[in-house]
Amino acid sequence: MKYNFDSIIDRKNTNSLKWDLFDDEYPMWVADMDFYAAPLIYESVNRKASHGVYAYSFVNDKIFDSYINWWKRYGLAMKREELLFATGVMPSITSIIRAFTDIGDNVLIQTPVYHVFFYVIEDNSRNVVENQLIYDPSSNDVETAYTIDFDDLEEKFKDPKTKLMLLCNPHNPVGKIWDEESLEKIADLANKHNVIVVSDEIHCDLTDPNLKYVPFASLDEELSNKSITCISPSKTFNIAGLQSSAVFTRNKELYEILEKQLAIDCFNHPNIFSIDATIAAYKSEDWLNELREVLFENKMIVDEFLKNEIPEIKLVPANATYLLWLDCSQINREDHEDGFSNELSEFLRENVGLFLSPGVQFGQNGDDFLRMNIACPQELLLEGLNALKIGIEKYKNK
Ligand SMILES: Cc1ncc(COP(=O)(O)O)c(C=O)c1O
Repeated sequence: MKYNFDSIIDRKNTNSLKWDLFDDEYPMWVADMDFYAAPLIYESVNRKASHGVYAYSFVNDKIFDSYINWWKRYGLAMKREELLFATGVMPSITSIIRAFTDIGDNVLIQTPVYHVFFYVIEDNSRNVVENQLIYDPSSNDVETAYTIDFDDLEEKFKDPKTKLMLLCNPHNPVGKIWDEESLEKIADLANKHNVIVVSDEIHCDLTDPNLKYVPFASLDEELSNKSITCISPSKTFNIAGLQSSAVFTRNKELYEILEKQLAIDCFNHPNIFSIDATIAAYKSEDWLNELREVLFENKMIVDEFLKNEIPEIKLVPANATYLLWLDCSQINREDHEDGFSNELSEFLRENVGLFLSPGVQFGQNGDDFLRMNIACPQELLLEGLNALKIGIEKYKNK
């Protein structure tokens, strides 16, 4: 390996959301990585930092060229005039909701899904409408473990109040790359019922080695014409703190409305580090390729460990993201007032200091699950797994 994915980095007392919440806990929850950034990014941030002036900056064309070049690998041809800068994917989605729906309208999400989707819809006084994914607990194949209930999707689209769908592509937390056929069916139904599809593709580069995701906008132009895509280097390169992302749409009308809304919401101003760091990130393909190998190996370690040491927990087959979805339904024997996964997650924190995300956070149908972030050196991963084993034993005997 050319890059360093083994060092144990002390992130305590760095004002880290992941590490500084509580004392003596091992966090495997929020989606950031315990790895150093790629060297080119580190150099770019240091160059800026050593200049000593941290005033306003502007979005230049080079950053858009970086996005355009990067997405060629996914068969998506983007043009400069189809891209907008935003300070994050969730800021973009906030603006999109405000621009294209009214208070009281419905926004559809496919649960279990990234919990902030719920907040951003509800905080803007819109209604969450769930198209629950279908889970097959007996499946050992990513294609069939989680699938889309298209009949239900169409029923929900038929409601004239449903104006927008937030698609998570690849999907957090189930870790699935949506195939072209599923995306085409979504597009078909959305067009039929006049629903705008917003494709959140923040996890798109973090696929298993040799696998590529399918951008929603790479579908036939007519099919994907009423869609907006949110992209960012933040998950891929672990630079969420630099707040850089982009929005892509070929649809001129949507583009103009969104451009205005991002300005109204003041989500279009870059911080001093973000532009150069994004350009550096999209020059760091070899670092990313190694990272994907490391993440895949970590996933295999977890799978093996669970099978041998904690057979009550099943790793849901996945092919993207570093967030593993652990099916704990075999441990769920009783009624749990605040949700089983909340109780189990709390128990693990209190008893073995391991912090995993409770599945119910991602929707009621996630309550049998815990989400585990495996973007860390193997040494830490094994520590986490051993803590999980001890914690589950204690939970069963309590
Ligand atoms: C699906 C998804 N969208 C958006 C975000 C957050 O994006 P940002 O930090 O750019 O707002 C996350 C973070 O985990 C995510 O998983």
